Amino acid sequence: MKMSEEIKQMLDENIVYLATSTNDGKPNVVPIGLAHAIDDEQLLVVDVMFKKTRKNLEDNPRVAISFTDVKRWGSYQLKGIAAIHTDGEIFDEVQRVMKEKSERRKAHTDVIDDPVIEERVRRMGEWRKRLRPKAAVLITIEEIYSHMPESKEDK
Ligand SMILES: Cc1cc2nc3c(=O)[nH]c(=O)nc-3n(C[C@H](O)[C@H](O)[C@H](O)COP(=O)(O)O)c2cc1C
Repeated sequence: MKMSEEIKQMLDENIVYLATSTNDGKPNVVPIGLAHAIDDEQLLVVDVMFKKTRKNLEDNPRVAISFTDVKRWGSYQLKGIAAIHTDGEIFDEVQRVMKEKSERRKAHTDVIDDPVIEERVRRMGEWRKRLRPKAAVLITIEEIYSHMPESKEDK
């Protein structure tokens, strides 16, 4: 199933939510900042701090990703199959994704004028510099759904 250019852009510019589940169906969902479509059908997610998510992915590769882009009035769910890479070409790609994301964030972060939030942003920046990827999770997209109510034009 092919992702549109718009969906690929939305994945790059938003926090997305990755849902996994145990073999017996207990769900888990986490926010992800490091997601990037490497082509029309494959999405790379960087594992820097997965715990339950990683265990679930090893036991059950079926995942769902949900995100909303308020600027574009778009909201989607993608479903797919994940494969974990801890070395090789796909793993090397995560270094590039992390660098690109961190540069983009510097250019676009809206900081709320509040000293508590400013301190939080500063601490997050320090924390990000120390992040090291543990794995690249390559998700092959199989299904795409819009969360938006259908309009007459869509039919
Ligand atoms: C805004 C935000 C973005 C995050 N992005 C990532 C990410 O790209 N990769 C990652 O491994 N963890 C990321 N995390 C941490 C995960 O959401 C989560 O805390 C981690 O996977 C541990 O939860 P788990 O035990 O359910 O897997 C992010 C957390 C926040 C709050």
